Amino acid sequence: MQEKHLLGLEHYPAEDIVSIIDTAFSFREVLDRPIKKVPSLQGKTIVNLFFENSTRTRISFELAQKRLSADTVNFSASSSSLKKGESFKDTVQNIEAMKIDAVVMRHPDPGASLHLTKYVDAVVINAGDGTHEHPTQAILDMTSLQERFGKVKGLRIGIIGDIAHSRVARSNIYGLKKLGADVMLCGPTTLIPHHIDSFDVRVTHDLDEVLDWADAVNVLRIQLERMDRGFFPSVREYRNLFGITSERLKKHKKEIVIMHPGPMNRGVEIDSSVADGKEAIILDQVLNGVASRMAILYLLLGGKPENN
Ligand code: CP
Repeated sequence: MQEKHLLGLEHYPAEDIVSIIDTAFSFREVLDRPIKKVPSLQGKTIVNLFFENSTRTRISFELAQKRLSADTVNFSASSSSLKKGESFKDTVQNIEAMKIDAVVMRHPDPGASLHLTKYVDAVVINAGDGTHEHPTQAILDMTSLQERFGKVKGLRIGIIGDIAHSRVARSNIYGLKKLGADVMLCGPTTLIPHHIDSFDVRVTHDLDEVLDWADAVNVLRIQLERMDRGFFPSVREYRNLFGITSERLKKHKKEIVIMHPGPMNRGVEIDSSVADGKEAIILDQVLNGVASRMAILYLLLGGKPENN
């Protein structure tokens, strides 16, 4: 791997993304075995630092670490000495003094993972930093596309919803473009970033246009906690214009693979009939999340090849 850390995909080498995806498929095979554990990271210690809520990413990383036989420690900001006023710097330097090899961190502030690299020598993996990036989510999304289509290059991928506040969208755009996919964004004008021209992607505000065009669509969570800021008039209007419903998909008379990073607002950005339908690969994404994170940890921590 050319980079010590995985902080984001904007400047990450395409070859390293490809290596991670290829390695993830080897680990998918491990996850299908009766004994789903290999000794690759025996003796390595990884700390999961979560300053923000998470279900999928936290459990997925922890499971990936256990499957690789690493020792893991979970840190939760709400029950730490941060509550007594200890600084971020002192907290992470105390954790590193205990001789750890890697830190997986989720934090509400954009750039927090880069900041962390200045305080610790351990490998840092960004598990989501504010509205900036969520690189491991994008890698598992691309692994899932490769599994479904046999390739990423040349695919037409729609990303629908709150692009402006989405770290998942940003990392997916960077990763998909590096691997040669075409990307179209769709959402209300208020939820498309002003600096969108710098991303070299298509943009539409017409859901039917992206559904006509795409091989797969990644449907983003509408961040209901931002509703009071007036980005769109009502949930009902959002659902009418941008919600992925069975009725809307039927109009297009073609198969479109449906993805969602979770957590989902059923009945808002996606209906249950679509989320649980045959074109949805949402739970495959979750399983590929464990395999992809095993691959990332294995490659960044110089894991020992498995003795099959
Ligand atoms: N996709 C994702 O990041 O989900 P969590 O917030 O539950 O980790």
